Amino acid sequence: RETPPPPLAAPNTLAALHDELESCRACPLWAPATQAVPGEGPPDATVMVVGEQPGDREDIAGRPFVGPAGALFDRASADAGLTRSRLYLTNAVKHFKFEPRGKFRLHRSPKVDEIRACGPWLARERALLKPRLVVAMGATAARAVLGAPVTLGQRRSRVEQLDDDAAVLITVHPSYLLRLPDPDAQAQEYARFVADLRLAVPYLG
Ligand code: URA
Repeated sequence: RETPPPPLAAPNTLAALHDELESCRACPLWAPATQAVPGEGPPDATVMVVGEQPGDREDIAGRPFVGPAGALFDRASADAGLTRSRLYLTNAVKHFKFEPRGKFRLHRSPKVDEIRACGPWLARERALLKPRLVVAMGATAARAVLGAPVTLGQRRSRVEQLDDDAAVLITVHPSYLLRLPDPDAQAQEYARFVADLRLAVPYLG
């Protein structure tokens, strides 16, 4: 892949931003990935939901939250009274980070440098969308949104003013629920996740 010339001006629509994303070389994650995965949702969405990074399925489809974590998110958001089609869904890091293992690609958490390198994309998405609420799911998303490390246990489950324009709600990542081995713990954590997402309902446009 060749490096295209730099754009003449910062894209001023989400669609243009999404097109530009594919040429990002700000960190090495682009090389082994199939493609960059842009955010998705109506340009007038008032709630922006941020995940960690695309997974295997998202990397192939080029769309966020279409794999198992996405299915869980869809169920939880519907149970909370949020309709996915009214949300803008995106990720802190736009390329899938993985380690090849036989015929599988194992998810690897992005490093701080990679979260930082991808930060301008998230900032530009936010500037163009102007959401009333940003929902950060998991520590990577919270770090990307707040620009500092976050202890989820201390900050989750409440809406905090992010700045003059938007509020932030920190919650867990749906993959965390998928990894819980105990069904009782899973049910309990699922209910907490739904309760967190319910806090976003008043922010729907
Ligand atoms: N996990 C994420 O954080 N984002 C996706 O798009 C898919 C899985």
